[in-house]
Amino acid sequence: MKKIVILTGAGMSVESGLATFRGGGGLWDNYPVEQVATPEGFAANPSLVLEFYNKRRVELLGVAPNEGHRLVASLEEKYDVTVVTQNVDDLHERAGSTSVIHLHGELMKVCSSRNPGDLRYVRTLQPSAPTIKMGDLAADGSQLRPFIVWFGEAVPLMEDAVVAMRDIDAFIIIGTSLNVYPAAGLLHYAPAGVPIYLIDPNDVAAVLPSNVVHIRNGASEGMRRLIDTYLADF
Ligand code: OAD
Repeated sequence: MKKIVILTGAGMSVESGLATFRGGGGLWDNYPVEQVATPEGFAANPSLVLEFYNKRRVELLGVAPNEGHRLVASLEEKYDVTVVTQNVDDLHERAGSTSVIHLHGELMKVCSSRNPGDLRYVRTLQPSAPTIKMGDLAADGSQLRPFIVWFGEAVPLMEDAVVAMRDIDAFIIIGTSLNVYPAAGLLHYAPAGVPIYLIDPNDVAAVLPSNVVHIRNGASEGMRRLIDTYLADF
């Protein structure tokens, strides 16, 4: 079975109704990133940070996977697929993808603020109780925090993502500005000569290898074109 890795970013979930981070109206325009997505921001004002992710969780529960997520999942019928996502939403899983690496954490999960990387203290919140507040404690007695990789923190699953890139037959990138490392660096682990497809309606500022085929569409339309045109004989 041919092996495909798909790297996704915020653009993957735009057609589901979730905002991107950068660009006009992006999340970081309304919420300063250093306040809500760094350990320093959490130390300075933990309630504000908990509230920000509580809102994101409630928002996530009100949206559904889009056609793009479903087409990504459908590739598993023919190929050995690993999705490596920078998204903290669970829309790939809800669309049926079975192998998803969440580089930047998962919105529906919470963890210890003393040992954020210790999986023993990670808990999944139920849709019926999707918020946490100050005083809610992890099993190690510390304040619960969102299970999100903030800027300045390690990205423990990057190694798994790099391993998934070995021996791939195609690499697909959907809806990421390729601004944030180490995730963006995954591109450079694609073995030489492997076809690389980029689905994004806009220009991507990153310097891309010359063999990248840029499909200038949104995630759903772009996935349809990719499957019908480029993967037709693959
Ligand atoms: P960005 O907001 O930086 O980029 C989103 C990309 O999606 C842009 O290139 C858009 O052109 C594209 N896009 C917009 N609409 C689209 C559509 N309908 N279909 C496909 N693509 C579309 O988001 P990311 O690259 O995901 O990290 O950002 C990376 C990381 O930065 C995030 O995981 C987050 C953020 O800070 C953390 O919170 C740690």
